[in-house]
Amino acid sequence: MIRKILLGLLLSVAGSSFGQAELYKVVDGYKVDENTMKGFRTWRAAACDRCHGANQEGLVGPSLVNSMKTLTKEEFVITVRDGRLQKGMQSFGTSPQVMENMDHLYAYLKGRSDGAIKRARVEPIQ
Ligand code: HEC
Repeated sequence: MIRKILLGLLLSVAGSSFGQAELYKVVDGYKVDENTMKGFRTWRAAACDRCHGANQEGLVGPSLVNSMKTLTKEEFVITVRDGRLQKGMQSFGTSPQVMENMDHLYAYLKGRSDGAIKRARVEPIQ
């Protein structure tokens, strides 16, 4: 009995702190952790906004606010790395900055898509 309770407790603690490691951290809707900042800087440096819009809401490319709700992480990585050249999505596989910051880029865009990051221009948590 006690054992079962302890196990349950352990599992719920593990589930919240390890199982679902936070993808991003946001304060006040626009202050984010350092890795998510790197994602944002990569987004700017790679000029994804040229096609997906400054607010990720779509331009010639689709709205990533929508896309990221259904795209898996793997699909995201493959799309950004290899592009979809016939459809106008360029490949970033030769961009060291994009490749090195892929997880951070994903976290930033996921935060935007989840609605947790409420504006595109983020700032570091002080
Ligand atoms: C030259 C224009 C252009 C640039 C620059 C660009 N994209 Fe795209 N992107 C597109 C187009 C067009 C599509 C839609 C392709 C299709 O129809 O499948 C797309 C698709 C995507 C998708 C898949 C969306 C979905 O619903 O399947 C992701 C994710 C994505 N882009 C992320 C990025 C990121 C991140 C960057 C910057 C590192 C970037 N794109 C830069 C044009 C662009």
